[in-house]
Amino acid sequence: VVENSTVNIILYGIGEIGGRVAKLLLKKENVKIVGAIDVDKRKVGKDIGAVLGLERSIGIVVSKDEAVLSKVEADIVVHTTTSFLKTAYPQITKIVKHGLNVISTCEELSYPYVSDVDLASNLDRLATRNNVTILGTGVNPGFLMDTLPIVLTCICQDVREINIERVINAATRRLSFQRKIGAGMTVDEFKEKMAKKIITGHVGLGQSIGMVADALGWKLEKIEVNMVEPVVAEETIESDSLWVKHGQVAGIRQCAHGIKNGKSVITLDFQAHIGAKQEYDSITIKGTPYINNKIVPCVNGDIATAAIVVNLIPRVINSSSGLKIMKDLIISPN
Ligand SMILES: NC(=O)c1ccc[n+]([C@@H]2O[C@H](COP(=O)([O-])OP(=O)(O)OC[C@H]3O[C@@H](n4cnc5c(N)ncnc54)[C@H](OP(=O)(O)O)[C@@H]3O)[C@@H](O)[C@H]2O)c1
Repeated sequence: VVENSTVNIILYGIGEIGGRVAKLLLKKENVKIVGAIDVDKRKVGKDIGAVLGLERSIGIVVSKDEAVLSKVEADIVVHTTTSFLKTAYPQITKIVKHGLNVISTCEELSYPYVSDVDLASNLDRLATRNNVTILGTGVNPGFLMDTLPIVLTCICQDVREINIERVINAATRRLSFQRKIGAGMTVDEFKEKMAKKIITGHVGLGQSIGMVADALGWKLEKIEVNMVEPVVAEETIESDSLWVKHGQVAGIRQCAHGIKNGKSVITLDFQAHIGAKQEYDSITIKGTPYINNKIVPCVNGDIATAAIVVNLIPRVINSSSGLKIMKDLIISPN
């Protein structure tokens, strides 16, 4: 981005995160939203000002498909429609074929080699051929359980093991998030929803482990992502939007391991439940020196995700072409 030049942005997905990104962009100078795409019928055909609940119109109407990509001049697309690489792939390839950079909150794109090496290589080739950059980012995956620990290992002479925990008190989060983690369900309902893949747990633990191992040059035997487990309320808990009775599900816990020489050398522990006693993000590096970094309270995911997307837009635009991973984009100059 050249100083004082305007960055033209298309939003692809205007849900919670796309909406927060849009609001943040509207506060910035030298930034213009020039297009918006979303499939939600309640949003298509409306000015994004109305979609965002603003009292003014922005002059950009939400389109239902990618036709807008060829109608407007843009520098980058902010992509926030899905967690899964297979779903994101056709959307992102269309964007790239229009010669546009992409920054996406798709969890599996943050380190796509764990989900599908072929799709990741195709994206890299396509981006290079079209002279654009693709980046998957966000708070987690994208920062707290991968980029931040990787940055901390820069001051270690050696690293033997890394343990990372994120504990969220879901009482302070939006109702849609509380529902997503099964809060207020019976344990049987939770298990039924898990079997039907309505409750999927946290997407991205395997990607974070892959990214950390890659940064450290560790060849892992395997990455194990455990099944998500219900956290059961030991007492009745009241939150602004939801009550969880004693014995009902308060939320989820999910662990994942990067295994080397038969031992977990990277351990991730993700917990999100209503009534968590303390909210924190903790990184422990068993190495030289020993490091424990604890952020209290844990970082608010929605705020941080919108921030990291907006903050990294200039980096993505100015980066060399190809599919980038946070570890490369943050630490290396290009
Ligand atoms: N990496 C991270 O740290 C991080 C953090 C936060 C969120 N995320 C991920 O980012 C994604 C967005 O999050 P969110 O909370 O904003 O989700 P959301 O509220 O569900 O918003 C997604 C929006 O995209 C629309 N959409 C879905 N498929 C589309 C398509 N093919 N074309 C155009 N629009 C489409 C949805 O419409 P419908 O509702 O009609 O489907 C919805 O309006 C999620 O997958 C989330 O898991 C990642």
